[in-house]
Amino acid sequence: MQGNKKKYLTLSYGCQMSERDAETFSSVARQQGYEKTTELEQADLIIINTCCVRESAENKIIGKIGQLKNYKEKKPSLKIAVCGCMVQQPGTAEKLSKRAAHVDIWTGTNDIGNFAQLLKSASENSKIICVSQEAQKNGDREISTAEYGKLKANVNIMYGCNNYCAYCIVPFVRGEERSRPKEDICEEIGVLVQGGCKEVTLLGQNVNSYGLRDGFAYDFSNLLQEVDQLPNLDRIRFITSHPKDLSDLLIKTIAEGQKICEHIHLPFQAGSNTILRAMNRNYTREYYLERIKAILGMIPEVRLTTDIIVGFPGETEEDFEQTIDLVQKVHFSQAFTFMYSKRSGTAAASYEEQIPLDVKKRRLQRLMSIQNARSLSWREQMTGKEYEVLVEGPSKNNPEMLTGRTRGNEVVVFPGHLDLAGTLVLVRIQSVNSWTLWGELV
Ligand code: 5AD
Ligand code: SF4
Repeated sequence: MQGNKKKYLTLSYGCQMSERDAETFSSVARQQGYEKTTELEQADLIIINTCCVRESAENKIIGKIGQLKNYKEKKPSLKIAVCGCMVQQPGTAEKLSKRAAHVDIWTGTNDIGNFAQLLKSASENSKIICVSQEAQKNGDREISTAEYGKLKANVNIMYGCNNYCAYCIVPFVRGEERSRPKEDICEEIGVLVQGGCKEVTLLGQNVNSYGLRDGFAYDFSNLLQEVDQLPNLDRIRFITSHPKDLSDLLIKTIAEGQKICEHIHLPFQAGSNTILRAMNRNYTREYYLERIKAILGMIPEVRLTTDIIVGFPGETEEDFEQTIDLVQKVHFSQAFTFMYSKRSGTAAASYEEQIPLDVKKRRLQRLMSIQNARSLSWREQMTGKEYEVLVEGPSKNNPEMLTGRTRGNEVVVFPGHLDLAGTLVLVRIQSVNSWTLWGELV
């Protein structure tokens, strides 16, 4: 009987790569006979998929793990699995498990392929720590049922990172950069499309260097061109791009692709050349601005978003002003802004001149207030214009309305019949508020 099935609940933190992993962990739970719940009280299995990119994320997750102790005491049969990036860091599971004895499974990103086995063993054994330091071949194999049946799906095209930005922990947890052959990717997308998928997001830490290290005879532009030809798919997105590898050819491919959405997330991280050098970013502000110019030249209607870090070690007021100057020169529709967080093992952790917290906070506030106004002005200039929207279904906050996204990935809410879900429609924007665009069907 449906109602008697054991239930799982997934809490996921971090980026889209992490979200994709969470989906895979969840699909393994489904294959093991669990069904999804969103109620903590009902869960027989709780999967916490973690992020370690900033200390604030880790603190939030550790707090959450602590809260679950009560649930475990009330329901001893409850299984708790803590997975993903944070656990992948050497020694973390051993350290945390001493403080959180109520957790049953600790496992990292390299052991996704072993999760089914871990879940089975957890019902017999009590505590399991399984954190392989080597990325396992089967860990990189996709379990395509993870995203099957969804309108929008994430597809990993590569894993790991080789850029070693001085602040970043990712290369240490996700390992060497490696790409999936395009045949595998297209096959996976073909299966997803059969399940009703209309939009795929191609995922990698640096999609622009796809295939290069593996010596493939094709690059990211070729991959995009090929995915663009796949039948019954409406939209292709990709994330994340590194400015140093964003070639003219790639910009041209995006401009010419039918299904390739005109949205480029291009983190610049810092506006000062001194800081960019210290960050090991391998480009200058002039180069970044030149790339933006090339993009705008070929894709005038492009939507640009970015990531910015304030308070990197050694960042002076003058350096910070260069960051402000850059957000004022480029009209980003959105910027993800972060205070630098010291991650042990990274190059920047040993840099002297760490910036005091109050200075980081002040810089972040100033940057955010400038960017927020620019984000609003971006949305305001959309008013009165018509946009293609992929209809997702009823809006969560306004269930009598429909919601969907533009090719630029902006959320639009508008009145319309539920039958339109899963289709492309044209919507005229009538008004905007902080995060949402309101419109009407054309
Ligand atoms: N501190 C603050 N922000 C960071 N990011 C990555 N590492 C750190 C860190 N140590 C930010 C970068 C990256 C985004 C995903 O997270 O801006 O692009
Ligand atoms: Fe977090 Fe980075 Fe891992 Fe993504 S790749 S989950 S942001 S640590």
